[in-house]
Amino acid sequence: VAIHTISPHSPIGIFDSGVGGLTVLRTIKAMLPNEHLIYFGDTARVPYGTKSEPTVRKYAIEDAKLLLRYAPKLIVVACNTVSALALDSVQETAKGIGVLGVIKAGAKCALEKSADKRIGVIGTQATISSYAYQRELHQLSKDVQVFAKACPLFVPLAEEGFAQHEATKLIAKEYLAELLDSRIDTLILGCTHYPLLKSTIQEVVGETVVLIDSAEAVAQDVKTHLSQQELLSFDSPKPPRVLVSDMPQRFQSIAERFLGFRLHHLELVSLDDLSAYADS
Ligand code: DGL
Repeated sequence: VAIHTISPHSPIGIFDSGVGGLTVLRTIKAMLPNEHLIYFGDTARVPYGTKSEPTVRKYAIEDAKLLLRYAPKLIVVACNTVSALALDSVQETAKGIGVLGVIKAGAKCALEKSADKRIGVIGTQATISSYAYQRELHQLSKDVQVFAKACPLFVPLAEEGFAQHEATKLIAKEYLAELLDSRIDTLILGCTHYPLLKSTIQEVVGETVVLIDSAEAVAQDVKTHLSQQELLSFDSPKPPRVLVSDMPQRFQSIAERFLGFRLHHLELVSLDDLSAYADS
């Protein structure tokens, strides 16, 4: 992929394993309404959170190459699993174009909020076993204690619209009990889907535990990065462009849940196209 010229008018490319990253798109859109956003959700190959590192790396490179076709000024890795396992692969692929992941943003924000430096982190199996959040937190602070827990059932529950459901509360109690026993005062929602379950998670952990939404944290990072690089856009607002690799039957309703508004136009990218980008 050739290096392209970037300007404040260039779009921001955002990608995720599926619809979950629309929570990140929504937050960036709210904070930076003048930015032109292009989102890719790899709905044909989701979930990434149960897959091995080589597979996640391969997908991440293909996703980044697809976005580079749109000459972005910045790539935002909305997916926690990709940010945890393959951020360096995305950076190499982007060849000098800025790349921001959610892990560093979430870790920094958690440390700012935590008084006791006892931080919990929840995410997919792949994110938690990669130790990426744990490593980042320990790099930023010598005396932090990190307690991590994979919560794989939260992803389908969020997609199913079970945010307030009794079943979600039961599962949350089961998953979060050991973190509460460890007396965490801050909990990082280290997965694109978890902000949708925020109120149930808050109810289970209690008001004293501060929840860190990595979507909000990365949106703040995007703003700082663009203003430092003098790349902030002042163009008139445009609706985001959304690309997906499969159009599942219930996509519109699931996307609406994540985005908070209805998407009228979606573009389909075939998996053959995605692997063709990988060869270029
Ligand atoms: N987007 C993923 C993440 O943030 C969750 C869904 C998946 O497993 O692909 O980790």
